[in-house]
Parts: sequence; C-alpha cells; structure tokens
Amino acid sequence: MANLFATKPLDKLLEESKEVGEHSLKRSLGPLNLIALGIGAIIGAGLFVRTAAAIADRAGPSVVLAFLVAGIGCAFAGLCYAEFASMIPVAGSAYTYSYATMGELVAWIIGWDLILEYAVAAATVAIAWSEYANRVLDWFGMKIPYQWTHSPFEADPVSGVSGMMNIPAVIILLLLSLLLIRGTKESAFVNGIIVVVKTAIVLLFIGIGWSFINPANHTPFIPDAATYTTPQGITHAYGGIMGILGAAGVVFFAFIGFDAVSTAAQEARNPKRDMPIGILGSLGLCTVLYVLFAYVLSGVATVEDFRSTGREASVAFAITKYMEGYEWLSRAVTVAILAGFSSVILVMLLGQSRVFFSMSRDGLVPPVFAQVHPKFRTPHKSSMIIFLFTGTFAAFVPADVSGEMTSIGTLFAFILVCAGVWILRVRRPDVERGFRVPAAPLVATLGIITCGAMIYGLGWTNWMRLIVWLAIGIAVYFAYGKKHSRLNAPPPEMPEGIKLSN
Ligand code: ALA
Repeated sequence: MANLFATKPLDKLLEESKEVGEHSLKRSLGPLNLIALGIGAIIGAGLFVRTAAAIADRAGPSVVLAFLVAGIGCAFAGLCYAEFASMIPVAGSAYTYSYATMGELVAWIIGWDLILEYAVAAATVAIAWSEYANRVLDWFGMKIPYQWTHSPFEADPVSGVSGMMNIPAVIILLLLSLLLIRGTKESAFVNGIIVVVKTAIVLLFIGIGWSFINPANHTPFIPDAATYTTPQGITHAYGGIMGILGAAGVVFFAFIGFDAVSTAAQEARNPKRDMPIGILGSLGLCTVLYVLFAYVLSGVATVEDFRSTGREASVAFAITKYMEGYEWLSRAVTVAILAGFSSVILVMLLGQSRVFFSMSRDGLVPPVFAQVHPKFRTPHKSSMIIFLFTGTFAAFVPADVSGEMTSIGTLFAFILVCAGVWILRVRRPDVERGFRVPAAPLVATLGIITCGAMIYGLGWTNWMRLIVWLAIGIAVYFAYGKKHSRLNAPPPEMPEGIKLSN
C-alpha cells in the first residue's frame, strides 16, 4: 500500500527538466509567448457563450460578481500554480506537482482529472466552434444541416430533426492537431495573432457597448433569490447568493486555461522568472476584461432576451438588436470568436499532450505518449491519439455535458494544487522557489474554499459525473499505471526509444 503514496523525488524531476537530447522538448517560449499562450487558452466559449447562460439561468446582472468570485478563486489557485511552476519547471502541470508532493495515486487522479480540463474542454470548445462556423457559412448560403452539426442527444426545437454527428467540430480538432504536430513555436506564432484579434474584439465591444447600457437592465443588480427552470427542464437557484455561486461555477469555464501555461514549463526559456509572469499576467488581464464585458453585456440586453432568442450567439444577438448601426461589429465578433475558439482548442490540445508526455515518462500511461517526432520534436503520436479521443467526444456528446464536466474537473484539480503547494512548503522548505506565494497557508486555504464553493454551486449531477469519471480512472490505474510505474517497480524491459534521466 505504501507504494501508492510514494512521491517522485524532486531532484529527479529537476534533473528531468534539464535533460536535453532526442526525447526532450524544445525550449523556445519567452514571457510574451507564455502570456499569449495563457490568453489564447482563456478567452473563448466561456466568455462568449457561458456568460449569457449564467445571466439567464442563474444570476442576471450579478453575473459580474460571479466573474469576480471565479476570478478570485483562480487567482488563489494561480498563485499556487506559479510557485509550483517556478520550482518544478517540467511539463505536466498539476500532475507533476502532485507526484512530488502527494504521491503516485493522487498524481494519477489529477492526471486523469486533467483529461477533463484539457481534452474534454477542447472538445467542448470545438462544439461551440462548429455552431459559429455554421453561422458564417449561412452568410454565404452554405449552411450545414442540423444533423451534421449536433450530437445524437440533441434535437432541433423547431423542426424536431435529431442530431447525428458534429462534423465541423471534428474537422477543426483535426486541423489544430496537425498544426501542433508541426511544432510549438509555429503554433505559438499563430496563437499570438489570434490573441491580438480576440482581445481587440472584446475591447471594442466594451468600448462601444458601454454607451448602449440601459440602467433598467442592471436594476436590481442582484435579483431576489428564486428558482429558474431552463427550456430543457433543469431547475437552478436564481438570484441571491446561491445564484451568484452557481453562476460563478458556470463562468468558471471562461477562466480555464491560464494554468495551461504551466504545462509548457519545459518549453520556456527562463521558467523561474517567466512562468509566474505568464500565469498571473494572463489571468489578471482576462479578469479585468471579463468583468467589464459582463457588465456591458448584461446592461445592453435583458435577462428575457438571454432566456429566449438571444440564448445562442448572445453577443452578436445583443449587438444586432440593441446597438443600431453596428452590424459590422456583430459580424466581426462572430469571426473573431471563431478564431478565438481555435486558439483555445490549440492550447488545450497542447496541454493534454504535455500531461500525457509526463505521465508516460513515469510509466503511468503507455510509452507511445512520450515518443517525440525526430524532426518536429513534438509528441506527434500522442497528438493523434488525443485527436481520436477529442474528435469522438466532440462528434457525439452535447456541449453542456462536456462543458460542465470540464468545469468541475478543473476546480477539483485546483483544490489539489492549492493543497500541494502548502504540503511542499512543510515537507521541502529547502528547495529553491523562483516565485513564492505570499502567506501560503492562507492563500491555499482561501483557494480551496473558493473552488469548493463553486463545485458546490455546480450541483449534484456534476458531482456524480466527477465521481464516476474518477472511479473509472482509479480502475485504469490499478489495471495499468500501478504495474508499469517506474517509481514503484522499474519494468525489466525498458520501452524502446525512452530514456530515463539516469
Ligand atoms: N477558458 C476557455 C474558454 O472560455 C476554456 O473557452
């Protein structure tokens, strides 16, 4: 039993981070690349799709406060991530950190959980991408029929046509997986362009939309506590504190991704200095943008709008209906959203392949996930396997299910990271930290409480999904990971092409 809690020695981790050669990743990312990587992962479907859902179902204009709650929770977790990333600059994010602190079983659980955060999030955003891509095609009279843009679990409320498979979502995942295989540097360049475009669009909407705010839509700012039943028949707490908490759990999706920066630690040129800059810089910038954006969106259109015709493509809807003379902005927003979603998917896919890379080097997942392309120096086979998984998910699962699974999985990972940073302060105070969390026990505790409150707000269906997912993961661990773990019992036959650090 003791093996389950064996920790990976920190010195070994640090050695791995210095390892160079055929199987190592290229160190090509500077601080600006890292901030761009963060923003690339952060601004996406959460802001442009989930904000309206949170207004309609949970919080009305007090969604602004929900963004603050979610942002504060992420800031606490972000500080903890930054300390870890500056101390253990290896690929793998929370998985690697927990391996060094809480032992193999917890590390496995986090690694498994991160599939929700990265791969399932990539699938979720790909589904949203498909919806917007179809809108653009519609401008040119080339709309793809409903059944080929929706999962079999959805039906068109007007025509009753049932979905079959989401083809555009699969196509965008394939294209971006191929781009990733070409190399991180190239991907980071494309990502940089997209980040500029989507940030500009968010700023334009805030700047122009501000003068269209109708104060009546902001009154009362916090609706009285009540309940609201969605068109799908799901009842949520609406208004009051529970409304804000539930909305925070919903819009939390919009923050997911800042920690993806930490998965690229092994590719950062100067990780000790640049990782905290990358993580906290991108998180801070996005929080400010989100709060302003939510304030404007909830002020321009009414809650009723977001419960009916404005539920889909809410931002474009609000502009078209209330901001006369700005139809060009509505179209520009749609195009920028498409580009923005692409960069989110890209970073999520990158994060997933890097987590598997680390797990594979530890023997917990098969060696194929750590094989690096001889020319591109990227884990190409891993990217293709991840494409098969995300593509299947995006093709056949509805976005709301995958979106909520992503949120709860990520919140859970954040809690473990907050606990881990504190544990490591006690167990290994001697290790040099490029960045130290101020008042670590307090920040870690507040991070755990805030993320825990958002998990509570997400409700029991999501708690059950998380429990089932983790139960499957634990079964896989005992069937494969535990037997192949390098830490517990190095296998006699060393997998071909993989080199241990020593
Ligand atoms: N934060 C990312 C988004 O909003 C996942 O799409």
